[in-house]
Amino acid sequence: MRSITIRRPDDWHLHLRDGAMLEGVIADTSRHFARAIIMPNLVPPVVTTADATAYRERIMAALPKSDRFEPLMTLYLTEDTSPDDVEAGAKSGLITAVKLYPAGATTNSHGGVRDMEKAMPVLECMAKIGLPLCVHGEVTTPEVDIFDREKVFIDTVLDPLRRRIPELKVTMEHVTTSDGIDYIRSAERNIAGSITTHHLIINRNAILVGGIKPHYYCLPVAKRESHRLALRAAATSGDRRFFLGTDSAPHVDPLKECACGCAGIYTSINTMSCLAHVFEQEGALDKLEAFASLNGPAWYGLAPNEETITLVKRDTPVSFPAKIETGAGPVTVFDPMFPLHWDVA
Ligand code: NCD
Ligand code: ZN
Repeated sequence: MRSITIRRPDDWHLHLRDGAMLEGVIADTSRHFARAIIMPNLVPPVVTTADATAYRERIMAALPKSDRFEPLMTLYLTEDTSPDDVEAGAKSGLITAVKLYPAGATTNSHGGVRDMEKAMPVLECMAKIGLPLCVHGEVTTPEVDIFDREKVFIDTVLDPLRRRIPELKVTMEHVTTSDGIDYIRSAERNIAGSITTHHLIINRNAILVGGIKPHYYCLPVAKRESHRLALRAAATSGDRRFFLGTDSAPHVDPLKECACGCAGIYTSINTMSCLAHVFEQEGALDKLEAFASLNGPAWYGLAPNEETITLVKRDTPVSFPAKIETGAGPVTVFDPMFPLHWDVA
C-alpha cells in the first residue's frame, strides 16, 4: 500500500505548556490533529474550572488562524479539588477529564495526590456524572524500582480504586508494560488505555546503550523489549480499548541535556509518520484509523472527526528537523532511528 486515508486523528494525551513554548509547539499538533486532551501540569497547575477556561483561551490565541483545533481541557486532581467545581466544569462542556498524578511521579506533579482517601469525594462525583479519570499509573514509593512502578500501581492503587468505584471510567495513560495491557484486556468495562508513539518504537536500550541518551528519557520510562512488543500488539489489534495519546512533552534542550534532565519526548511533529511506519511493519495499516481516529472518541463519548487525512509513502525519506526552535529555546524532535517514508500529504 502506498497511500492510506483515515479520519483526522486526535491526540488523547498532550503537553502544550504555556507562553513561548505553547506558541512554538501548537502548530505541530494542529497541523494533523483535530482535538487533543491537554495535560494540566503547568506551573502552577490547572486545578480549577476557572484555570482551565483561562488556559483554553491562551491555547486558542496561540493557534494558527488557518487551523481548526479543539483543545479538550483537563483538571489536575489535588487533595483539595472541589467536587462542585469539577461537576460544573464537566456540565459546561469545558472539562473532558480529570488527571491523577500521584505526587512526585513525573514533571510538575509535586502538587498531586498523596492520600487517595482525600480524593474520594471527587472521584465518586466523577463516577456519578460519567467524567473519566486519566491516570499517570506509577507509584512513587522510593522502595519500588522505577521499572516496576506501573505494575505496582495497578496492584496497589488502580485495581483497589476500580473495585471501590466500579462506575468510574478510568483511562490508564501511556501504558508501558504488558502488565498494563493485560490488566485493561482482562477488565470487563470502564477502563481503556492510551499508548504513545515512542513506546511503540523504543525500549530501554534506546536510553542506556552506547551512552546515556536524554532525548529518549520520559516517564513512564521505556521498559524492556517484551513490553514494547505487547504494546505494539495491543495498538495494532484494533481493540477499542487502546488508542493514541502521544504524550508529546516538550522541554528545551538545556533542561534535557544536563546532570538531572527532565522527562519528556517531543513527537507531535512526526507522530503520524512514525505510526504509519509501525503499523505497516506490523501488517496492520488497516488498524491505524481505529488507533488514531476512532477508538479514542468512542471512549470519550465523542463523534469521530468528519475530515480525513491522507498518508503517502514516499520513495525517499521524509525529513523532519532534528530540533524545532521555539521562543523558549530549542526542542529536540524524537528520532525513531529509522528513516520515515510515510508523509501526511
Ligand atoms: C511529561 C511532562 O514533561 O510534562 N513527561 C513525560 O516524560 N511524559 C509528564 C508526564 O506525562 O509524565
Ligand atoms: Zn504526559
